[in-house]
Amino acid sequence: MRFHFFLIRRKWWTSWQTCPGFSFIPSLRSAQPLALRRALCLLLILIVLPACGSPADAAVPPTLSNEAILGKQVFTRDCGSCHSTMPDTVIVGPSLAGIATQAETRVPGQDAHAYLLNAILNPGDHLVEGFQDLMPSNFGKKLPGEEIDALVAYLMTLE
Ligand code: HEC
Repeated sequence: MRFHFFLIRRKWWTSWQTCPGFSFIPSLRSAQPLALRRALCLLLILIVLPACGSPADAAVPPTLSNEAILGKQVFTRDCGSCHSTMPDTVIVGPSLAGIATQAETRVPGQDAHAYLLNAILNPGDHLVEGFQDLMPSNFGKKLPGEEIDALVAYLMTLE
């Protein structure tokens, strides 16, 4: 067991001396003294590693605007007990997955923004089919205008 460990250590040590992955660069193989070779090797690794990271970043979904981030926080605090953002998940109120797209079809003459704003301020004006008038109607008084706007901005991201 001890011998095995020694072998692994030794393998690591020799590959370190030739700079693993970069030994094809002649100046790295031959740089003297050893400390310089190691420093060059480390430098190369430091340059290459972040470059490897960037394609993964590109796969991250588009980030929310600051306003929508605030809206999401308000939503979690004040609306999440009744509304899910997962499709077809009814808590007390309807799921709001895809609401940005559905909103403009709800009330003739109201675009998505106007419908969402009114759905928050005056929920009794238009009831979603199959649901009762259970949504609190005091959000307009309770929440500052900034938070109402943020909520609408967030709901508009749920396409
Ligand atoms: C006590 C439960 C409850 C809370 C809390 C609540 N809602 Fe509702 N909500 C409902 C119910 C029930 C309906 C369906 C009846 C209606 O249309 O008013 C609804 C409907 C809606 C609709 C219309 C959905 C559609 O498909 O057209 C929107 C938008 C909405 N709520 C947003 C919110 C937001 C934003 C909040 C937080 C500020 C919130 N609700 C808080 C119960 C709730």
